[in-house]
Amino acid sequence: MVGYAFMGAAHSQAWRTVNRVFDLPARARMALICGRDTAKVADAADRLGWDAYTTDWRDLINRDDIDVVDICTPGDSHAEIALAALAAGKHVLCEKPLANTVEEARAMTAAADVARAAGARSMCGFNYRRVPAVTMMRQLVADGRLGVIRHVRATYLQDWIVDPQFPLVWRLQKDRAGSGALGDIGAHIIDLTQYVTGQRISGVSAVTETFVKERPLPAESSGLAATVDGQTAPTGTVTVDDAAVFVARLDGGALATYEASRFATGRKNGLRVEINGSLGSVVFDLERLNELEFYDATRPTAEQGFSRILVTEGEHPYMSAWWPPGHIIGYEHSFTHEMRDFIEAVATGVDPTPSFADALQVQLVLDAVARSAELGSSWAEVAPTLTAAGV
Ligand SMILES: NC(=O)c1ccc[n+]([C@@H]2O[C@H](COP(=O)([O-])OP(=O)(O)OC[C@H]3O[C@@H](n4cnc5c(N)ncnc54)[C@H](O)[C@@H]3O)[C@@H](O)[C@H]2O)c1
Repeated sequence: MVGYAFMGAAHSQAWRTVNRVFDLPARARMALICGRDTAKVADAADRLGWDAYTTDWRDLINRDDIDVVDICTPGDSHAEIALAALAAGKHVLCEKPLANTVEEARAMTAAADVARAAGARSMCGFNYRRVPAVTMMRQLVADGRLGVIRHVRATYLQDWIVDPQFPLVWRLQKDRAGSGALGDIGAHIIDLTQYVTGQRISGVSAVTETFVKERPLPAESSGLAATVDGQTAPTGTVTVDDAAVFVARLDGGALATYEASRFATGRKNGLRVEINGSLGSVVFDLERLNELEFYDATRPTAEQGFSRILVTEGEHPYMSAWWPPGHIIGYEHSFTHEMRDFIEAVATGVDPTPSFADALQVQLVLDAVARSAELGSSWAEVAPTLTAAGV
């Protein structure tokens, strides 16, 4: 694994747990973790359960006994590490968004296609697909229970940079993060809604805004937290969007709205998706991730209404491996499910999803949103991926 902070910890928890919960054809051994600071990565290896540590990610690539490289770094290093790992025949799991640019994402997808022929698999870490209620949403749509999908309404709202004194961490720098709220949290709802509906965004009209354009430079930063050295800290320019709002057409005929913001005061990690079809509607809210609201318009009129399904039954996706019905799960379980699906695919020689090609398609949507916003919200078509990617 490369990176040991937020996602490094979340993925480590999942790698530690996955074989203890799921019966899988292969076992994960946590061999080597990489970070740039010797003392910090040594501490992380001990705390997170890794056999050894290094300060150079190339050590992972060069070791013959390492089969999988898990990339948990900011977007500016995804392409370089993934390309090297795939060329060395490693299976690669890469955090989202796949890359900082469409060009990098195309190169990674092409490399994944070449590596696949030699048996190396690749996947992008859109973990919310693996929340059981989200997986179930997709099944309801695929089974025709919602009929023809007309509307998709998706919001992903946070508030961690409302304070203008919050420092200029890597997530606020375009060269490190690629984009702001758009690529960080907007990418999640783009992937999630396309996954659930089986439809792809074909075009968008967007507005983006950077509300606070100058921020203090961080003295030290890690993850979402940072500290500033006193009141007189020098400032730097924020080069990404603070919020992105767009309307979209899906290729199956649905109309969609998306809102991704880091300025939604009071909203900590508010991901909500509502889908309306000719036969029913479903609603998912991450703050109540064990639940799904379902409106079945085929029921007798007198009995119609949104019903709350507690997605904890053994027949619900992933849940038979966990606890008795009603014993709820949380955020971290989505990563355990991600590792479960990844190990199973690798061990049985099939391609895990979302593939790099699927993640490239999300990158193309991000690019269309940015282009539209730059051109005063004019309509921007989503470019084709030029590969045979399944959503
Ligand atoms: N799936 C999700 O829900 C989710 C949530 C948060 C972040 N992410 C994604 O995960 C990735 C990492 O984000 P994070 O929140 O964990 O960031 P973070 O700042 O918490 O951690 C980044 C880690 O990468 C390390 N790092 C940076 N450059 C490196 C290099 N060249 N070599 C070795 N290590 C390096 C840092 O030391 C740190 O350990 C990003 O792509 C982000 O978009 C995904």
